[in-house]
Amino acid sequence: MINIAVLGYGVVGSGVVSVLDKNADRITQNAAQEISVKYILDIREFSDDPYSHLFIKDFEIIVSDPEVQIVVEAIGGIDAALMYTRRCLEIGKSVVTSNKELIAEHGSELLQLAKEKNANYLFEASVGGGIPVIRPLTQCMTANIITEIYGILNGTTNYILTDMDKTGADFSASLLDAQNKGYAEADPTADVDGHDTCRKICILSSLAFGQHVFPSQVQTEGITGVTIEDLHYASELGYKIKLLGRARVVGDKISAYVAPHLISNDSILAVVDGVMNGVVVRGNAVGDVVFCGAGAGKLPTASSVIADVIDASKHLHAQKWISWKTGYDGFVKSPMLLDSAWYIRTDASREKVEKEFGNVIFSEGSSIETAFMTGVMNGEMIDDILKRGISAKSQFRVLGDH
Ligand code: HSE
Repeated sequence: MINIAVLGYGVVGSGVVSVLDKNADRITQNAAQEISVKYILDIREFSDDPYSHLFIKDFEIIVSDPEVQIVVEAIGGIDAALMYTRRCLEIGKSVVTSNKELIAEHGSELLQLAKEKNANYLFEASVGGGIPVIRPLTQCMTANIITEIYGILNGTTNYILTDMDKTGADFSASLLDAQNKGYAEADPTADVDGHDTCRKICILSSLAFGQHVFPSQVQTEGITGVTIEDLHYASELGYKIKLLGRARVVGDKISAYVAPHLISNDSILAVVDGVMNGVVVRGNAVGDVVFCGAGAGKLPTASSVIADVIDASKHLHAQKWISWKTGYDGFVKSPMLLDSAWYIRTDASREKVEKEFGNVIFSEGSSIETAFMTGVMNGEMIDDILKRGISAKSQFRVLGDH
């Protein structure tokens, strides 16, 4: 039998305990032994909870109990989560988490510590929730040189953009709807401003390209600038607007950023709507591989966390060898030099647009503004043209094979 402890009894922690109980027989079969929750650490009271007998408030009980071999960190954030994760790894307990903020900031340090102590630090649920993407990337695709990763990595923003597109509601109304349905947090900043997507593309980039990519290195734009007009004009052009995290190899460095993109209705990600996530990984041998499914939520996240617990239970004294180097200034280049077509919405006339941009494709806009798609050019080129008297009300990249 494997004894585990669960730190934090919020959405993720309670989901893990619940699924371990509900699917106990199958999990025992898959792990080839029983996985039993010995402790749940939370400072709050849960006296009416069916697992109330497992609750403790003192982390030291977990650290000092040699029977606990795997710890699920479901606290979230950095401070306490970092301290507890370090303490567990230092004494050789494996740690499983969905905490993308912690991994994006401290992943290389914690992976190194796990390696030194012959323990594992696993985090499948940190990107894509219930979608298997980290294990395929680090195991099934390891024969490849990865050249690009991009995806819809945040369920809340995808829900909002889908709702705006389908119902014609504005950003505030769709955000409120997402909050009412429990998708968006009361403080939605991390989602709508792109920080959550940023952390996830940092983790994928670090895994795929071998150097730690920090959130501070990734230019990040959220969805608050996307209007229903933009969605309407994009639709007329045959596109949807999705928030993408994107990283691609540029020489011996990478370019990584987060921004709303126009994606063609023919694109595989165009059908990834609502709270779903979709990730495309491009390998030089396998080509494009697409991962799609529930990117957030209690049970999908628990599904991935428990898969890691089972994996850790099978590798108690063997390393999974997930690792990357510490990263360095200059590894992540600005996306300004990446080529793409661009979508622009402006008050400038069509004549002025054609004079400055040459051939463009116009969307049928209202009589008071102009929306169009440019040819392929990098960010510096487009900024130079816009400086010549075209004030962009919206300016988004168009995802293409550039
Ligand atoms: N807030 C995140 C989302 C949760 O909406 O995708 C999962 O990471």
